[in-house]
Amino acid sequence: MKEIDPAKLPQHVAIIMDGNGRWAERHAMGRIMGHRKGADSVRETVRTCHRIGIRYLTLYAFSMENWLRPKAEVRALLKLLKEYLENEVQEMMDQDIRLVAIGNLDSLGEAIHMTLKETMDRTARNQGMVLNLALSYGGRDDMVEAARRMVSDGLAGRITPAEVTKELFAGHLSTAGLPDPDLLIRTGGECRISNFLLWQMAYTEFYFTETLWPDFRERHFLKAIADYQQRERRFGMTSEQLRT
Ligand code: FPP
Repeated sequence: MKEIDPAKLPQHVAIIMDGNGRWAERHAMGRIMGHRKGADSVRETVRTCHRIGIRYLTLYAFSMENWLRPKAEVRALLKLLKEYLENEVQEMMDQDIRLVAIGNLDSLGEAIHMTLKETMDRTARNQGMVLNLALSYGGRDDMVEAARRMVSDGLAGRITPAEVTKELFAGHLSTAGLPDPDLLIRTGGECRISNFLLWQMAYTEFYFTETLWPDFRERHFLKAIADYQQRERRFGMTSEQLRT
């Protein structure tokens, strides 16, 4: 496999972890078992990111649309998330990882919200890496919420229309303070972004793989990073401009 160049690492990697259901079906198991195996891939991916020096990792753990799934599956996913936080908090402390979360966190229910808050509080001063979980998250909702807050600020006389800029808008999104993702990985073979970080991914490099999320191991992650390192990010400019 190609070597990873430590000088050209993406600062922020975002992942759409898809394919848990299909993995379970292929192994003649229930969908929930697929999610459980998916949590193992989360653990391994976080460790790899920490090991190679990725500064920000955002995982699409539960979308706004996931609420439409059967109640038992939603319940199992939230339980899995709570278990993950409880089991991993010590490792986050040991590895200097700060946990943050974006999305409609209130809607997750009291118990999980509490665990999430405790984990975020406990890891708040860690500086090694940021693990950002997108939970009950939708990109369009994120933007509508930002617009709502700016309108309130406007009505309260805190901002004028002329002061509304891309930077101000970005500062009202749930991801304020995080850099935009450099690389998006989506497992499971679909080539779409499913209402993930819509604003934030304007210049993100996309990497789609057929590998189902529960099968996604360190070597798959490193392959995605190597692929990213082959790309030329022009941000609308020409290659020549970038060379000068
Ligand atoms: C998509 O697979 C995956 C999800 C909806 C949830 C992702 C959750 C996890 C990986 C486990 C828990 C998360 C953490 C952070 C511990 P799918 O069910 O849509 O798969 P399918 O397309 O094959 O049906």
